[in-house]
Amino acid sequence: MKNLIFIGAPGSGKGTQAEVLMKDYGHKHISTGDLLRAEIANKTPIGLKVQDKINKGQLADDRLIFDLIKKNVDLNKHCYIFDGYPRSLEQAQMLEDELFQGRDYLVYFFSVNLEDMIERLTNRLVCDSCNAIYNKKIDNLNAGDTCPKCKQGKLYQREDDKEEVIRDRIMLHKTKSKPILAFFRKLSRLVELDASKSISELQGEVRAYLDID
Ligand code: AP5
Ligand code: MG
Repeated sequence: MKNLIFIGAPGSGKGTQAEVLMKDYGHKHISTGDLLRAEIANKTPIGLKVQDKINKGQLADDRLIFDLIKKNVDLNKHCYIFDGYPRSLEQAQMLEDELFQGRDYLVYFFSVNLEDMIERLTNRLVCDSCNAIYNKKIDNLNAGDTCPKCKQGKLYQREDDKEEVIRDRIMLHKTKSKPILAFFRKLSRLVELDASKSISELQGEVRAYLDID
């Protein structure tokens, strides 16, 4: 089984696809966004350092992210879905040279149009305990509801899911993603998917590239 990388615009469904896929394929899900939000919630030194940036939709430092990844993964024991990482050319280079060091992996890029991103993100709810992802409209839930999956956490709206911050995140993604895509395309690691499809249709396409191996 190979390691997988899910990159794509905010709201393109990286976390949603990772949640579904890991149940059947046995990967562990590593979302750098979830790791950073946990640091913030726990008021750790890292959390205090990045809080302002994350809430404004700006990127955390490349080396800080790499150290966070190293702290949370053991590639000798597990295969992972890296969700939202790498997010700069520097991170992509560190991943290839310092983390994977010759290991096999596949990169999925999820693309989706602007209206869909905004509609999805302004309606997103997340569990404050298990990080499960919901959509107010699709799942008929509200902020403050108990999480239907873990039955413990409460659902909340992310601080960076306000429309003005969403727009900044999308712009940043646009400028940062081009060189990353070129990097992985050159290494023949890249699969590009149309993420405007339904959750189950998209999951079928993600699996198709794993099942042919
Ligand atoms: P992160 O948490 O990774 O945010 P993001 O990349 O902006 O992506 P999202 O989590 O918003 O979207 P998603 O693609 O996971 O969509 P989801 O599945 O939830 O990062 C947050 C911040 O942390 C960054 O802005 C940055 O500041 C920092 N950070 C993180 N990683 C970093 C790094 N490597 N370097 C530096 N800084 C970093 O779905 C969204 C909604 O749509 C949900 O409601 C879902 O139910 C719905 N939905 C999903 N798929 C579909 C579908 N196919 N059809 C209809 N609805 C759908
Ligand atoms: Mg996510």
